[in-house]
Amino acid sequence: MHSVLFVLVSTCLLHSANAWNNGLQKTPAMGFNTWNRFQCNIDEDLIRQTAVQMKDLGFLDAGYDFINIDDCWLLKDRDASGSLVTDPDKFPSGLKNLTEFLHGLGFKAGIYEDLGLTTCAGFAGSLNHELTDARLFVDLGFDYAKIDDCNSGSFSGTNPERFQRWTDATTQIQQETGKMLFYSFVEWQSFDAWTWGPPIANSWRIYDDIQPNWGRITAILNNASFIGDFSNFWGHNDLDMLENGNGELTLAEQRSHFTAWALTKSPLLIGTDISSLSQDSIDILLNPEIIAINQDTQIGEPLKPFFWGKNPDGTWDPMFPAQYWSGFSQDKQHTAIMYINFNDRTVDLNFTFAHSPHLQADKKYAIRDLWKHEDIGVFSDFFFDGSIPSHDARVYIFTEQT
Ligand code: GAL
Repeated sequence: MHSVLFVLVSTCLLHSANAWNNGLQKTPAMGFNTWNRFQCNIDEDLIRQTAVQMKDLGFLDAGYDFINIDDCWLLKDRDASGSLVTDPDKFPSGLKNLTEFLHGLGFKAGIYEDLGLTTCAGFAGSLNHELTDARLFVDLGFDYAKIDDCNSGSFSGTNPERFQRWTDATTQIQQETGKMLFYSFVEWQSFDAWTWGPPIANSWRIYDDIQPNWGRITAILNNASFIGDFSNFWGHNDLDMLENGNGELTLAEQRSHFTAWALTKSPLLIGTDISSLSQDSIDILLNPEIIAINQDTQIGEPLKPFFWGKNPDGTWDPMFPAQYWSGFSQDKQHTAIMYINFNDRTVDLNFTFAHSPHLQADKKYAIRDLWKHEDIGVFSDFFFDGSIPSHDARVYIFTEQT
């Protein structure tokens, strides 16, 4: 038992020490990205309107401070000097103008490129142009680069070698200009980026593209449940952009999706049409007590499963992941507990304190419900709560009583 604990503890220390600290985003990035809702139907009016609405609705104040443009902002060919060309129909005023507008409102700006010959949507890729492109992004005023992995088969290095090109490019451009780009990437060849991403990037995607349906959300979360040890300050597992407001997700599912992404310390990039978000969906995305856990500056480790519930502990099940998760919050006297009901019916939840490595079996805890925003009493030995609707989530903060 002790040796297992030692391995776990030393692995965690190793991973957090291993993270690439380029001075950007100790806690996960938050903001907006165009792809999930708009794909290639983007232009400068959409970006401007989205930013203004996000500010008016309180998203900027809540921490959502990146506005990121995904694929399709550029043309298929470079110009005669080898530079990427912004699509003049979509962005007639130019991207520099747009990033100035975003910065003026208080946001930071993000842009997308691809490691290969072309982007996933078929526009000019960055292979062998990494330095030129990183310089261009800084010149245009961007703060964040998302680097994708389509059509990159012609570069035959290992995964770390392929993605290191952008680590090197952003580092060199920082030496030239003093400006560092946040570096997030998507890797499509083996989906094991968490094992080699931490020393070379700020965040790395862990799974196939998200979709606005419950089955895809549970599949991504199942994957994340096994790799929490690889995410910590400065380097984060990226579960993909949020689908809140898209597709057929119910409010319960939106609550669970947001809760799970926030508490696994994933970047929180809203991927919907802000102008048509319902007030209920807005309230979910703005829950300050949930955001505080995602943005905790004292504890970098994500919540991890301690009790699978219906399935035996440790079960791999993309349709029915682990149900009970825990982690410290702010300090070791505060523990966050997350529960998600993957059943198709309302259920009760219960667990013993001894089951979680983040609770002490012999202590009493005062418990607060972060979705009801209520203190619900002091408990010892075990915790019970009733009537959790299908696909809904609960989050509690347990405060140790002295
Ligand atoms: C995918 C990526 C998406 C989006 C899309 C753009 O590879 O996972 O998030 O960026 O490319 O074409």
